[in-house]
Amino acid sequence: MKTTFITLFPEYIEAFKQHSIIKNAISKKIVDIDTVNPRDFTEDGKVDDTVFGGGTGMLMKIGPIVKAIESIKTEDSIVILMGPRGKTHNQENARSLSKVKHIVLICGHYEGIDARIKHYIDYELSIGEFIVTGGEAPAMLVADSVIRLIDGVIKEESHINESFDKKGILEWDNFTQPREFEGYEVPEILLSGNHNKIDKWRKQNSIDNTVNELLKKGKN
Ligand SMILES: C[S@@+](CC[C@H](N)C(=O)[O-])C[C@H]1O[C@@H](n2cnc3c(N)ncnc32)[C@H](O)[C@@H]1O
Repeated sequence: MKTTFITLFPEYIEAFKQHSIIKNAISKKIVDIDTVNPRDFTEDGKVDDTVFGGGTGMLMKIGPIVKAIESIKTEDSIVILMGPRGKTHNQENARSLSKVKHIVLICGHYEGIDARIKHYIDYELSIGEFIVTGGEAPAMLVADSVIRLIDGVIKEESHINESFDKKGILEWDNFTQPREFEGYEVPEILLSGNHNKIDKWRKQNSIDNTVNELLKKGKN
C-alpha cells in the first residue's frame, strides 16, 4: 500500500517515517510513504492568496493542489482532504482504508483550501471538533491508524482485542511489573496462571471500561 501526503511541509512527514512501527513497515516494504509539494506546481512559488469577499488570513490556491493530485492519482487512489467539516475518522474507517492500494491525504494550511477542492476529492475527513494549524498532524494520525492494521505490520493478535476493534468496545486494563506500586496492586486473578479465569476477567473488565466511559460521556 502507498500513502501520499500532499503538503507544503514535507519535513513533518519525513519525521513520521523515521520511527517505530511506521519505520519498520517501510523497511519491510509493506508500505511506501511519499510526499508531493503543491509549491512544485507553481511558476512563481505562490501557493496561497487573499480570500475573495474579504477576511483575514490566506487561503491555499486550488491550481497547484489539483496539479499535485493529478501528478500521482491512479485508478487505485482514494483522495482524502483533511478538514474539520468532514466525517470524523474512526477505527472502522481506518480498517476500510487499510484495504486500499493508494491513499492520498491532502493537508490544508493557513485558512484552509479554496472550496472548489471538493470537486477533486473522494471525501473530507476530520479528526474531531477542534481546529489545528495544518492538515499534516491529522493526516499522520489517520495514516498511522491505517498502517498498523495492514497485514504484517504488527501481530494480528495485538490489534484484534484493542479498543474499538469491536464496535465501540474498549480494551481491558493491562498491568506489568511491579506487582505492587505505592499500594496499588495488580488484580490477583491476572497472576493466577488460570487462563480461563483470566479471559473471563478481561471480558468483564472490557465491558466495565466501556460502560464507565459511556456513563462519563452521558454526564458531560
Ligand atoms: C487552520 S485550519 C483551517 C480551518 C478553517 N478556516 C475552518 O474554520 O474550518 C488549516 C488546515 O488544518 C487542517 N485541519 C484543521 N483542523 C482539522 C481537523 N479537526 N480535522 C482535520 N483537519 C484539520 C485542514 O487541512 C485545514 O485546511
